[in-house]
Amino acid sequence: MTDPLLALRPWQAPEVTSWGRLPMNAVDRRSGALSLDGDWRFRLLPTPEATVHGTWSTAHVPGAWTMQDTDDLPQYTNVRMPYAEFPPRSPAANPTGVYERHVDVPADWAGRRIVLHVGAAESVLLVHVDGRPVGISKDSHLAAEFDLTDVVRPGEPSVVRLTVVKWSDATHIEDQDQWWHGGITRSVLLYTTDPLHLADVTVRARRDGDLRVDCLVRDAAGDGALPEGWYVTGDLDGDLLAQDTEFDRLNAEDERVSDFLGEVRIRAVVPGVRTWNAEQPELYGLTVRLHRADGTVADSSYHRIGFRDVDIVGRDLLVNGERVFIRGVNRHDFHPLTGRTVSYDDMRADLVLLKRFGFNAIRTSHYPNDPSLYDLADELGFYVVDEADIESHDHAHEIADDPRYLNAFVDRVSRMVLRDRNHPSVIVWSLGNESDYGANHDAAAGWVRRHDPTRPIQYEGAAKRGWADPDVASDIACPMYAPLEDCLAHALSGQQTKPLIQCEYSHAMGNSNGTLADHWAAIESTPGLQGGFIWEFRDHGILQRVSDGRPVGRAGAGLYGNGVAAPGHRWAYGGDFGETVHDGAFVADGIVFPDRTPKPAMYEHREIAAPVRIRSFRHEGVVLANHQHFRGLDWLTGTWELALADGRTLTGPAALPDLRPGETAAVPLPFAVPADGGEAWLTLRVTTAEDQAWAPAGTEVCAPRIRLRAADAPREPVVSGPAVEVDAEGLLRHPLLTAAPTLTLWRAPTDNDELGGMAARWRAWGLDQMVREVVSVRRDGERVTVESEHGCALGVVRHRQQFTPVEGGVRVEESAELPEEFHDVARIGSVFETVAGLDLLEWFGQGPWESYPDRAAGAPVGHHALPVDDLFTPYLRPQESGGRHGVRRFTLSSPDATGLAVELDEPRQVSVTRYRAEDLTAAAHHDELTPRTGCVVHIDAAHRGLGTASCGPDTFPAYLVTPGVHRWSWTLRMV
Ligand code: GAL
Ligand code: MG
Repeated sequence: MTDPLLALRPWQAPEVTSWGRLPMNAVDRRSGALSLDGDWRFRLLPTPEATVHGTWSTAHVPGAWTMQDTDDLPQYTNVRMPYAEFPPRSPAANPTGVYERHVDVPADWAGRRIVLHVGAAESVLLVHVDGRPVGISKDSHLAAEFDLTDVVRPGEPSVVRLTVVKWSDATHIEDQDQWWHGGITRSVLLYTTDPLHLADVTVRARRDGDLRVDCLVRDAAGDGALPEGWYVTGDLDGDLLAQDTEFDRLNAEDERVSDFLGEVRIRAVVPGVRTWNAEQPELYGLTVRLHRADGTVADSSYHRIGFRDVDIVGRDLLVNGERVFIRGVNRHDFHPLTGRTVSYDDMRADLVLLKRFGFNAIRTSHYPNDPSLYDLADELGFYVVDEADIESHDHAHEIADDPRYLNAFVDRVSRMVLRDRNHPSVIVWSLGNESDYGANHDAAAGWVRRHDPTRPIQYEGAAKRGWADPDVASDIACPMYAPLEDCLAHALSGQQTKPLIQCEYSHAMGNSNGTLADHWAAIESTPGLQGGFIWEFRDHGILQRVSDGRPVGRAGAGLYGNGVAAPGHRWAYGGDFGETVHDGAFVADGIVFPDRTPKPAMYEHREIAAPVRIRSFRHEGVVLANHQHFRGLDWLTGTWELALADGRTLTGPAALPDLRPGETAAVPLPFAVPADGGEAWLTLRVTTAEDQAWAPAGTEVCAPRIRLRAADAPREPVVSGPAVEVDAEGLLRHPLLTAAPTLTLWRAPTDNDELGGMAARWRAWGLDQMVREVVSVRRDGERVTVESEHGCALGVVRHRQQFTPVEGGVRVEESAELPEEFHDVARIGSVFETVAGLDLLEWFGQGPWESYPDRAAGAPVGHHALPVDDLFTPYLRPQESGGRHGVRRFTLSSPDATGLAVELDEPRQVSVTRYRAEDLTAAAHHDELTPRTGCVVHIDAAHRGLGTASCGPDTFPAYLVTPGVHRWSWTLRMV
């Protein structure tokens, strides 16, 4: 006989979203349950209809089989589906995993209700127990529960079989930009309750202390009779809220209702309540108990709740009445060893890191995340935009209005809301991502509006119809990658009706996030602009063995660090598993590396989000401002650091004033600012004064700074010493240089340069292979002047270098004329190479981390030192990296402190790495690079901003390298 579940062919039936599945609810049954995680017997079939025979292998649950020992490997596509079939069809070749194990149902569960919980299965789940069909579920990112009471026999073993079909009609609405996997990716468990149990609990806790708890009581035995004397209690951190609550007998008296549904409402007002917000996430423990007539507890449900309000008033999104800035990031459930499966510790580490770098909001792109994520967001303090698992990117237009998918849309949105609505962190519901906009969305939005009127809804696809349109299913104007000028124009138009919070902006692929500070300067100063969510948190590089191309999987712990995979390994991106249809490195677009190492852009964000800022400096002191929304400054402390151009750094403790949000106060410095010493920069290193849930005391939170004194006017060089040595080609000879300084216009294209089309243009112009021809070498006393021409397909750049001997070295004065047609090049400057052994860079300028002209707000000016090997940022696909902005001078030295020193005419973009631009350009993965022994040094007269053009706006005109004459000069000395 054909199996009835298979006979339905549910993988090609969008109308079938589930069968035999219990309703979603907000009662957390994880504690006290029987875990079924671990090794299961496993078979991977070529199609769902293939028969299981032969020997079993094993697969670990939770875990995608694509990350374990099977031949079905991960595949990455962005928009396009991995196969050609149109919705709702799936391909004939359809990997299907059959998981089986014995389960010993405890004997003392006899007479109780028994439920199987499957945390997440991708993309269709079929459940059988002892060969009997139990149920079906779809939605790869929400749990499915099945009542096994009548199927299993307590005290006896049962065989649970979970069949997971990889491709289905549902895949067409799970077309998110990420790796494709298959398997059971969240925990599986079995739990038991009394037949009469708490079926659901809804909590509404407002900032005035008003608390409403609605409990749904259900009798699974289904005889329709409510036992006499049962009651429900609630307590908040041990204080009893209510007792002897009357059941609402609405349904109980209806003969036709087969199982009893009773509602119990608890109402209370908590006096002097401590409200929840992302800065001070005050939580209370709420326990709801269902009691038998004798007072014993039949069932209970624990919730950590927070008292807070979310409102939209005019064009402001308010939390507890405050217009909070949304400093958000988009986060996927991702791990380089397991793909989709994330542990509690991993999620905690993600969120702790985000807190330390000033983020206060998460969009769960693009599906409901692992349930623990929300517990952690409640606890650590994040505003969450909870997003439903709907993305039909490749077939967006067909599906949004396709009635066959109507059920799936409403199912996915409503089940998310039913699961997550008690979390104070969740402040907005999102209907999904990149699925056009259609009636199916409006249906889902309608359900949410009735069920949970306490939170706004957002949906980018709807907002696209008009940021101010009152009729669309989005209460927030939430565009993605909108140009800043469009946002500003909207906010200033007088037409704005909704908060403008970009659901995605500042695409973090490779060396990126240029202009983030400009965005925030505009956001903080423009009513109507309230923030956004950076795309995205983590690079989705999968740890891969280079020898056989397989994912390392769970055994790979320890095989990476500092953003880099161990030798013999690499971070795989699209195409690396032999896929022919893929979208390459576009999957690596996080602001942290796959191993969670922060990219330098994180420091930019941290500074932009600084809770304390320096307003101004006066003789009587420095004016500080509290930029938080709710919190004072008492949790912070600080140290003043004064960096002087003459090499001195003065430090001293900073006493932070007790300021309420928005307040300012002048504070004295612990030292007098010396009258001499040249350019002077004051930095306040702000650290946590005491342990926070997300940082031990002493963790740096931000480092705001202010310039106290400008640089002295440069002195004219005094000619001193014998003539500089320059060869017949006009190239400088120097004992520490293995390649003389020459002109360059090329940088190894960043992902933004490549995907934004600039690199293609630069290549077409020939900027990567310009040919230098010396025009003249003129000697004038001790001075040598070299004129050269640098030709390429586009034209010729004339370059002039003048070498003058000065005390201890040589002064190099350069100019280059960039003709009109060379508009917008990557850089214009000098590059030279040094002998081996100069392994330490010390500099006065911005640092210590990497910075670029349009990403320089996070790097304070000071005296910095780093080993040359640590200057480079190992972006997954090698590209321009390791730059330092605003460098005034630097030394490169060997351990005996000899080496060379360079003094620049003005703050310049400098990089010192082990790689030529051409080395980086040629490599596709970091592990393909071979570091040179010497240093490759770039001194740029001008360096193009980074922008975010890999997906979204390019840098601003102010950060472009413009045609015309560029002049720069520097002095090279031996030390
Ligand atoms: C957005 C999309 C994201 C991701 C991003 C580019 O369009 O919502 O899922 O694809 O672009 O990295
Ligand atoms: Mg997409």
